[in-house]
Amino acid sequence: MNENEITNINSDNEPRQASILGQGKAHSKIILMGEHAVVYGVPAIAMPFKAASVSVKISPSKTNRSWIESDYYNGPISLMPNDMANLKKVMELMLDSFNLPQKGLHYRIESNIPIGRGMGSSAAVSVAIARAIADYYDVELSDYQLQLIVNQGEVIAHESTSGLDTLMSSTNDPVMYQKSEQPVPFSLNLKAFLILADSGIEGQTKKAVASVRQLFEERPKFVKEALNSIERFVKLGYQAIQNRDVTELGRLLTYNHYYLNQLGVSHPSLDRIIQAAWYAGALGAKLTGGGLGGCAIALAKTAKDAELIAEAMQLAGAKQTWILNLESE
Ligand code: PMV
Repeated sequence: MNENEITNINSDNEPRQASILGQGKAHSKIILMGEHAVVYGVPAIAMPFKAASVSVKISPSKTNRSWIESDYYNGPISLMPNDMANLKKVMELMLDSFNLPQKGLHYRIESNIPIGRGMGSSAAVSVAIARAIADYYDVELSDYQLQLIVNQGEVIAHESTSGLDTLMSSTNDPVMYQKSEQPVPFSLNLKAFLILADSGIEGQTKKAVASVRQLFEERPKFVKEALNSIERFVKLGYQAIQNRDVTELGRLLTYNHYYLNQLGVSHPSLDRIIQAAWYAGALGAKLTGGGLGGCAIALAKTAKDAELIAEAMQLAGAKQTWILNLESE
């Protein structure tokens, strides 16, 4: 347990907390290839994105009720907005499954993961909450238990979930992930740079997943063919990573985007940003995550190219960009 002092925590209606007694952390993620298809059992390639992370600190509430303090919502858990129901579920499941006392806890959530941008914010906050509760009560929480509990919250957030977000927010390596299979960790180590660009438009994973499902019901042949193509690209993409062939990987990212677009989960703003990356010399570019807004990624050969591409993506409307050196990932 941590006993670090914190100061200057001042929520409107809740007395100041003197010390932190439980702490949990998690980070964001980037899906390189295979989003949406992964819901139907196709493998996906994803990597942790540690520049965006969340920390949850728990101390006893001075009153008897449990309290959430965050930039998004500051108030009692009983009055939490509906779109935080997944977090409430994770808290309840943690306390119930470990037979822990339901006494008033004060949760302080600090996150720099943009919400609703396909970066796995909801799963990351849930993972950090579960870890903080385990730390607070000093209980052993296995990765399996963690994923089981957080995924039940994710089902509320996204309805149909592959479990990829939960895994990625709690894991340190890039992985090849397939639903119900053991994930395969690997290292990227590519002489290339990845640009992540936030369109500034809230992504709508739940809606996007539901619309792909509806399209599947209406045009099964079309969607099956798209899923088969994405599966082929993901497998070739994994091969390209093993062969350190960044040109091929870039090409496959672009093909993957074409099919996501066909499935109707892109957005005109994302398409503009992605097209700007292509024109600025990216090896490939696509949307990442649930889509209908959210983020795009682009692959660049050199740091200088990456800067030019990031600039072009900003000119095309991206509100924020990050550049990752894939040699160290
Ligand atoms: O938008 P995000 O970060 O929640 O990513 C969703 C990825 C999907 O494949 C669309 C859904 C899932 O559960 O895998």
